[in-house]
Amino acid sequence: MERAAHLSLQKRLHRCHLVRRRMGLWALAAACLAAMVVMLGAFTRLENAGLGCPDWPGCYGFLHVPQSPHAIAIAETRFPDDPVVVDKGWPEMIHRYFAGTLGLVVFGLAFYGWRHRHEGVPVGHALATAGMIVLQAAFGMWTVTLKLWPQVVSAHLLGGFTTVTLLSLLSLRLLGRRPSLSRGLEIRLAHMKPWVYAALGVVIAQIALGAWTASNYAAIACTHFPSCNGQWWPTMDVRQGFDLLQTIGPNYLGGQMGSEARVAIHMMHRLGALAVVLVVGTLLLRLWWMTRGTELARWVLLAAAVLTMQIALGISNVVFHLPLAVAVAHNAMGAGLLLSMVNLGWRVQHCHGEQWVALHRREMAV
Ligand code: HEM
Repeated sequence: MERAAHLSLQKRLHRCHLVRRRMGLWALAAACLAAMVVMLGAFTRLENAGLGCPDWPGCYGFLHVPQSPHAIAIAETRFPDDPVVVDKGWPEMIHRYFAGTLGLVVFGLAFYGWRHRHEGVPVGHALATAGMIVLQAAFGMWTVTLKLWPQVVSAHLLGGFTTVTLLSLLSLRLLGRRPSLSRGLEIRLAHMKPWVYAALGVVIAQIALGAWTASNYAAIACTHFPSCNGQWWPTMDVRQGFDLLQTIGPNYLGGQMGSEARVAIHMMHRLGALAVVLVVGTLLLRLWWMTRGTELARWVLLAAAVLTMQIALGISNVVFHLPLAVAVAHNAMGAGLLLSMVNLGWRVQHCHGEQWVALHRREMAV
């Protein structure tokens, strides 16, 4: 009798393990797809193709970009103010096809999680990710209908980064293995938790500043580095640059702000980068010193490499006047830095200090 119960428990545990692994692999694939969607979005914006299709979700009412003279004639009668430019329509539509596929995969994941909710999967996390996809679809639509209003473009980019992060975290929760650390190291890492979360906050703020820089076309407001057009502290219009209530329309392609406002945005992103280097750099140095020789050290080194590359790409954006490949890579590496910090946060999250251990022991004894 006891043996039968043991066997059934083992079977159940094995099944839970399989379900978690399957869902984790799907979440990982979806995270990669989401990263591609974000990069395609950056490519579309940098090609000035964000309004390549004036409607949503179709393109001039078609499921693809109208190409034949007949289709183009129909499209232009439907949208007489927006002549068809085939080369601008395709980046936008390819971004939408990939985003649509991602939506299907994420809804599939949420459904799978719900079906197996009694088998130890984080179903709430999967459902929240599906909710994020719905929000992103709305932001994608408003990006077009509000004609690249910077607030919406920035929110859409931040939503994309959030989606990649939620999916990566989901796969980490399902597949990740926490490092086995000595008790002493765990206690020291527990003291570092607030620093890790603060560094994560600084990176998120810098990403928001980057999104604002990109959506207001402030990338080449300063064309020199480290000075801005030969000045260390150029004239800036911070008030206009960060006016979050600017009116909607007529059309923000290429940006509407004055040059001093764009310089202000650009300079704030540079100062943000300095803050990231100081906060994240110091944290990584301390973490590396503590974790040398353990498996955690390689994640710390990876984060340091990503930070270095991100800074190099940012500077290259400025001095080489925003080459397409560099700008897309800067976008991707921004997501990489965010994920590196989330990964470190996840790994130290379960490290507990002495007080917690003492309290826990006392509770167990009662
Ligand atoms: C320290 C870490 C940094 C992070 C996390 C970061 C993040 C970002 C992000 C997320 C974007 C928006 C990308 C897009 O929409 O495609 C961006 C844009 C930009 N960043 Fe950074 N950045 C960093 C450092 C730098 C540095 C050091 C510079 C140059 C001095 C720089 C220059 C730029 C420029 C010029 C843009 C606008 C690019 C565009 O219009 O596509 N960044 N950054």
